[in-house]
Amino acid sequence: MISFADEIKQGIPSELPALKAWDPSINHAPKRKEILSPAEKKLAIANALRYFPKEQHAVLAAEFAKELHTYGRIYMYRFMPEHPIFARAITEYPGKSEQAKAIMLMIQNNLDHRVAQHPHELITYGGNGAVFQNWIQYRLVMQYLSEMTDEQTLVMYSGHPMGLFPSHPNAPRVVVTNGMMIPNYSKPDDWEKFNALGVTQYGQMTAGSYMYIGPQGIVHGTTITVLNAVRRLAKTRDDIKGKLFLTAGLGGMSGAQPKAGNIAGVISVTAEVNPKAAHTRHEQGWVDEIISDLDELVTRVKKAQASKEVVSIAYLGNVVDVWEKFDQTGVHVDLGSDQTSLHNPWAGGYYPAGLSFDEANDMMANEPEKFKTYVQESLRRHAAAVNKHTARGTYFFDYGNAFLLESSRAGGEVMAENHIDFKYPSYIQDILGPMCFDFGFGPFRWVCASGKPEDLEKTDAIACKVLETMMAKSPAEIQQQMADNIQWIKGAQENKLVVGSQARILYADAEGRMRIAAAFNEAIANGEIGPVILGRDHHDVSGTDSPYRETSNIYDGSRFTADMAIQNVIGDSFRGATWVSIHNGGGVGWGEVINGGFGMLLDGSEQAQRNLTSMLHWDVNNGIARRNWARNENAIFAIKRAMEAEPLLKVTLPHLVEDQLLDGLFD
Ligand SMILES: NC(=O)c1ccc[n+]([C@@H]2O[C@H](COP(=O)([O-])OP(=O)(O)OC[C@H]3O[C@@H](n4cnc5c(N)ncnc54)[C@H](O)[C@@H]3O)[C@@H](O)[C@H]2O)c1
Repeated sequence: MISFADEIKQGIPSELPALKAWDPSINHAPKRKEILSPAEKKLAIANALRYFPKEQHAVLAAEFAKELHTYGRIYMYRFMPEHPIFARAITEYPGKSEQAKAIMLMIQNNLDHRVAQHPHELITYGGNGAVFQNWIQYRLVMQYLSEMTDEQTLVMYSGHPMGLFPSHPNAPRVVVTNGMMIPNYSKPDDWEKFNALGVTQYGQMTAGSYMYIGPQGIVHGTTITVLNAVRRLAKTRDDIKGKLFLTAGLGGMSGAQPKAGNIAGVISVTAEVNPKAAHTRHEQGWVDEIISDLDELVTRVKKAQASKEVVSIAYLGNVVDVWEKFDQTGVHVDLGSDQTSLHNPWAGGYYPAGLSFDEANDMMANEPEKFKTYVQESLRRHAAAVNKHTARGTYFFDYGNAFLLESSRAGGEVMAENHIDFKYPSYIQDILGPMCFDFGFGPFRWVCASGKPEDLEKTDAIACKVLETMMAKSPAEIQQQMADNIQWIKGAQENKLVVGSQARILYADAEGRMRIAAAFNEAIANGEIGPVILGRDHHDVSGTDSPYRETSNIYDGSRFTADMAIQNVIGDSFRGATWVSIHNGGGVGWGEVINGGFGMLLDGSEQAQRNLTSMLHWDVNNGIARRNWARNENAIFAIKRAMEAEPLLKVTLPHLVEDQLLDGLFD
């Protein structure tokens, strides 16, 4: 059998590999709807055949046509590699550039069977968050990375490697764009069509940018969100006990909810229609119990409420049924949300009530228009049931999955009286925006490239020490955030959060990120740990413009602009990022958001020290500056503090207007 390194270096094999058997044990992507005309189908096949020499075309044309017909996409399953895909130690990757090897490690982590949602379809999370469109792109990219030097940059167009271009050692090794469209061609069906043609892909956030670290990436943010949502209802830890959190989704990101519920100390019920997803989370220990009978669920929840247990329960079925059942049986829900993939409502992101999981999969592929009406009807029921609970005191928030947006579009009763805003806040408006993003706190993360658990343990200790030192001098405004983050990093080992690479997430502000990264770089230089790859979720202070999510707490009208995300990726790319990415779509849907991210290899060098200082400072303060200009009070505070610390930073500050001056001007 060909060795791992040789298969990577081989790229596209000259001989056709044997056909692969369909593996039913894998969680496969749903069949995508048929959208191409016969002429467009021919174009899709011709596009796919561009990767292959003529003599292979006849065999592959028929095979790809069959894939297109059966799955709605051409994945080129035959070309799945022989080697198992997972993040190896950086030393195991062939190549001439350490930075390129770090990127290979991260790509493999995104496609690891334990990490990815639909690994055979190259989907990491969110139902359609793709790393590549097909297996040939994977092979070609790995080959390019294994042969490139630090004088070149690999250019990625939505999964397709356009090639290696001459650059310089401190340029990004890879520049990724995913799903960038001419704005008028950015409707959901445009994704279906142009993705089926093989010319674009939905990169989600960290899927197409090789920065996904499994559900841990989201547990921290979810814990912060659930904890602070509960704090709105209960002032002390004792008051929190016995509170019930009802939500849906045990998929890629949503799977973090029960774990976060346990850490926050509540009872959680998470509905999930897909048995494979529910059992995976149960086996991983992310959810304590699975119940598939509604009456049994009610009994179990009432018992947990009476005895104030901390427990996470998965309900195997539709979340709409749970909301309605709890209403009928008088189960009081304290906290409610939803993390079905409503950014992708018509193609498997949301399973409508009244259909079994299999019936829904069948209908969405074969009768897409009928399926759409089922989804809309279910959303109206869903919203109505939530409304009944909130009328009795449930605190409901939108979890950035476009639940309120899609419910309103379906005619659900979720609009506020002014018919402009929603009745319920997004988690960013009430919690993460004012408490975290405006101060610069966001989902900083790192991966120990040695693959050694002891390196991760050492980095945890280093980060904790940095935060404790900082907290001693932190202003009152950010003491709670610092305390939560220190508590998180102290409990991180015990909570066994690693799935895949040796990775850690830690919310930190600009100063925290720079100081932690500098301490890592020093430990690498001293030989205490191996190289470290830095990154972050795109769901952050500066990286994402998304009017119903990351930037939903921007109230000056600019939340429908995307200058911040574009400025961010450009700024990161010339301040030393190892790779950068910019995406259309991600989280809330195609056409609804522009988001970007970076990766940076720390190798202990002085250049790495210069890069981390320059880039991390910009990567956070860009967003704080913008939030400050939008008149967000906490951001004005944070940017003034940043200017005191760094004399070269000079940001335009807003003058605030007295409301009464405006009153009556246009009445
Ligand atoms: N966790 C976070 O911090 C966070 C932040 C912002 C947005 N989101 C959003 O949350 C959504 C979920 O993300 P994900 O990665 O978990 O997606 P996913 O597709 O992996 O998981 C969603 C799960 O919901 C299940 N589901 C769909 N309809 C259902 C229904 N009616 N009842 C019960 N279960 C149902 C699906 O089977 C699936 O397993 C996305 O839209 C994402 O953008 C999450």
